[in-house]
Amino acid sequence: MGTRRRRVSVIRSRSKPVQWDDSRMEFISNCTTYSIANAAKALIDGHLVAFPTETVYGLGADATNEMAVSRIYSVKGRPTDHPLIVHISSINKLEDWATDIPGYAIKLAREFWPGPMTLILPRTDLAKDYITGRQSNVGLRVPDQPIALALLRKFEEMGGKGVAAPSANRFGAVSATSAGGVKDDLGEYLDSTDIILNNGDCKVGIESTIVSCIDDIPKILRPGSITKETIMNVLQIQMAYSDSNFNVRAPGNFLKHYAPTTQVVINEDCRPGDGFMAISSIPTPSGAIRIASPNNGNEFAHQLYTAFRKSDLLKLKRIVVVIPHTEGIFEAIHDRLQKASSR
Ligand code: TXA
Ligand code: MG
Repeated sequence: MGTRRRRVSVIRSRSKPVQWDDSRMEFISNCTTYSIANAAKALIDGHLVAFPTETVYGLGADATNEMAVSRIYSVKGRPTDHPLIVHISSINKLEDWATDIPGYAIKLAREFWPGPMTLILPRTDLAKDYITGRQSNVGLRVPDQPIALALLRKFEEMGGKGVAAPSANRFGAVSATSAGGVKDDLGEYLDSTDIILNNGDCKVGIESTIVSCIDDIPKILRPGSITKETIMNVLQIQMAYSDSNFNVRAPGNFLKHYAPTTQVVINEDCRPGDGFMAISSIPTPSGAIRIASPNNGNEFAHQLYTAFRKSDLLKLKRIVVVIPHTEGIFEAIHDRLQKASSR
């Protein structure tokens, strides 16, 4: 989390002590063709590259390199049997990783890729147990972010097949929507050969919609900015409500997840000194500290994790988040709030 204290090393020399910050990875803000090629090469060489996507920042490794993937788990502090999403540059790479792809999944990929949707599909031999958490399915996504796409294309040009990338945060904590957040969370666990690519804030701000494409009818495993209503519209089908108890080892399904240190409460009355986030038309209750005032659902999603991080920085005890309903994108916002608020 943003407030974690860094280890600072001190060398005592005869003259004066030398101090340095222990976060030694490369932090690249000028994402040129050259620096993206360098980052792609770093992935090929088995290093980690944190990169922006339209949803949240990802912590990437070559998805066919078991050693590199195992470093994702140690840097995140995540149990090793939790599956990772493989990021590819286009729908044309889908069959490298997935087989027996139902027609509706192709339709979803055509409609929403590049974009904030992950498809869970039966895996090919390329998707090993260390990617899928020993499940027979693999999660795949084409992100809609120019730096991410350029990185994936370059990596594939160099012979890479796909980049495994969970959200770039410590296990159970709030996903990072800025490169600074990645550095704060993971900097001390990364090596000098690892890279963070900085391209500002993530457009969407919450993680992708995950759709299981294993059965005859798709099922939403994690709601996101592409809503159930939108999916049903495209596929012209009815779908059950998102099933948050689906039977896979998915960290997002642990009850407590996406959680700041500040206690998150939903639609409750404010106490003096509480943080407060609500649609801009709702006034701040007296004694509360306004943390965010989004104008609509998309802005709400975009500002949610920043509001969590800000509450931690301000060392607030509680933040009260008021949502108007749980329809559309508010279903995803409600899902994250519930996970952040359970203790
Ligand atoms: O927006 C996103 O999806 C971001 C960006 C970086 O792409 N990634 C992300 O990854 O949120 P992660 O690992 O933090 O969350 C992915 C979720 C986890 O809950 C994981 O268990 C689930 O997707 N998942 C991955 N592969 C799966 C599979 N084969 N079956 C079921 N769930 C899977
Ligand atoms: Mg995550």
